[in-house]
Amino acid sequence: MSTENIHPIFDSILKKEDKEKLLGQKGLVLWMTGLSGSGKSTLATGLENLLHQNRNLSQLLDGDNLRTGLNNNLGFSVEDRTENIRRVSETAKLFCDCGIITICSFISPTAEIRQQAKVIIGSENFVEVYINTPLEECEKRDVKGLYKKARAGEIKGFTGIDSPFEAPENATIEIKTKDLTIEESVEILYKEVLKRIKRK
Ligand code: ADX
Repeated sequence: MSTENIHPIFDSILKKEDKEKLLGQKGLVLWMTGLSGSGKSTLATGLENLLHQNRNLSQLLDGDNLRTGLNNNLGFSVEDRTENIRRVSETAKLFCDCGIITICSFISPTAEIRQQAKVIIGSENFVEVYINTPLEECEKRDVKGLYKKARAGEIKGFTGIDSPFEAPENATIEIKTKDLTIEESVEILYKEVLKRIKRK
């Protein structure tokens, strides 16, 4: 069969802008970094719900979830964390290119790892959000009981205990969860997203 007279709809590959027009929003990646138990997942879930209520399409990518599927062969060595973030970044880029507000919630403990994410995703679509909760507070909350295990030596290489966390120095957005309610933090994030997803 000749492909010469194929319908013009196949003439060009659809671009990010075409998808954005359809959705009435701009695609971006909100990259949430912070210690385990800092509140990343809680705020990411809250933000996703608020966006959904307001008819904005988003997709949440979360460390605990992705590590049970796509990244279930990875541990917590520097190499594995780097590969975790590389795969997540490539995935986030696909969603973002589809015009979707992509919320990534990963410890992503080093400046180098976060830079890798920014390079893969593209700086124009990458918004770094530091969920700033002091280690003492995360440890006090210890939602998953992991800090207790790390202190007891049952988990080795736990971020903040015996594996480093480099706080971002120039995050675009910083949320100090100790000074805010969950609702207040979600509202700040929502407003920041709205500013950036408006189509002209
Ligand atoms: S990252 O460092 O590679 O970005 P990611 O965000 O995917 O980490 O996963 C972190 C989650 O894995 C934590 O919230 C915690 O539930 C769990 N976890 C298990 N072991 C560790 C560890 N050694 N260090 C940090 N988190 C761990």
